[in-house]
Amino acid sequence: MVATQSSREGWSSRSAFILAAVGSAVGLGNLWRFPAEAGTNGGGAFVIFYILCVVLIGLPSLLSEVLIGRHGQGSASESVVRVARDSGASEKWVVIGDIGMLVAFLILSFYSVLGGWVLNYIGVFAGDLVTSPFLGGAFQSWSDSEIEGLLPALLEDPVKLVALHAVFMAITIFFVARGVTKGIEFVATFMMPAFFLLFLAITIYGAFTGAFAETLDFLFTFEPEKLTGSVMLAGLGQAFFSLSLGSAIMITYGAYADRTTNLASTSAIIAGADTSVALIAGLCIFPIVFAAGFDVAAGPTLMFQTLPAAFSAIPVGSLVGLLFFVMVFFAALTSSVALLEAPVVWGVDRFGWQRQSTAIGIGLAIFILGTLAALSFNVLADWHPLGGMSLFANQGFFDVLDTFTAKVLLPVAALLTAIFTGWKIDKRLVRAESGLPDGLHKVWMFLIAYVCPVALAGIFIVGIVS
Ligand code: PHE
Repeated sequence: MVATQSSREGWSSRSAFILAAVGSAVGLGNLWRFPAEAGTNGGGAFVIFYILCVVLIGLPSLLSEVLIGRHGQGSASESVVRVARDSGASEKWVVIGDIGMLVAFLILSFYSVLGGWVLNYIGVFAGDLVTSPFLGGAFQSWSDSEIEGLLPALLEDPVKLVALHAVFMAITIFFVARGVTKGIEFVATFMMPAFFLLFLAITIYGAFTGAFAETLDFLFTFEPEKLTGSVMLAGLGQAFFSLSLGSAIMITYGAYADRTTNLASTSAIIAGADTSVALIAGLCIFPIVFAAGFDVAAGPTLMFQTLPAAFSAIPVGSLVGLLFFVMVFFAALTSSVALLEAPVVWGVDRFGWQRQSTAIGIGLAIFILGTLAALSFNVLADWHPLGGMSLFANQGFFDVLDTFTAKVLLPVAALLTAIFTGWKIDKRLVRAESGLPDGLHKVWMFLIAYVCPVALAGIFIVGIVS
């Protein structure tokens, strides 16, 4: 049995849609991945190119995806097929939805491992809060090397890593199994506002401590010679990863939007909020990195290594640290729920499976794949699955999953979506759905039909070759 359009659940309001979509976009991609990528790719050139990608490629693509979803009213693949059918285009474009589903599946497998790291830090700070003097910094009885050893100790412990990953996946499965309004909306409407409040408070605090001027210089000085092909591909990949594009999610969430929602303005709000959070995360994390003399190019460990050190030096550090990681957890959960929702709806729509058992089944498969990612920090540290290719040189399974999704699958999915929207979907259908005034609609169509395909193909090739 295939779910009919009228039996589908939908968002209860436009603001629920916006919160859920912003919730899916804002997550570890902003707080953890953006600073890590900015650091390893040399700062300003990367950051400015990333912003350019968001405006010229990401935002137009976001509008395409939610538009396909709202017209198609199904899982990502179903929606693409319906839009293709209504436009007289080939149903083979279903690959856009299928690749997206695969991307969501692969991303969640390593995302959940990181979610486990976040849970670990919540535990560490909560433990410290009950044992240490309230007004001082966190970890007062610890030496510097003990604090710096927090993350390495976690990474060396395969059992703990896998157990935390299991807990994070279980929480994600729980909310997806509950469905759109009771699960996803509930998570988004309570957790996103709490996230923004906490985040603002901590950033304002951070602005008064540490090396703010140096951070501005690092993040926003454009040095053209640093803009290599691989930096460009990294910027593009980050834009798509962060906006949750190319991964079936925005198509899936668009399908829950009703006819009165203006898709263009909603897309702009989503992209604006997501990009602001990434930039603010940079302004929050790099002052600490510079002040403490950490390596900016530390990569994936940057956020997790710098912040405990910072919280150990500030008043009421255990409490601020605890609140911070709880906030990161909320942000991560609203994204992981989205990542699981996309493949689950696909199973429900295509095969008529039950939502709950599908969430558990697909969630389990993701857990197993993620276990390999968790083990790549310890037992499988010497395993370099695609080590023969320079894009993946020296990468363990965790990094391979990240690079393969963000730098290969996302650009490919984005390219297909741009060609589909710009050239294959019936022009009247696009016009009726976009919600843009005439002039802007023309600009958008130009971006999606010409600028996006050329830029995406170009950056992808230059990035892979370099
Ligand atoms: N955008 C999310 C984040 O920044 C991650 C994500 C990617 C979610 C792709 C869904 C799809 O954390």
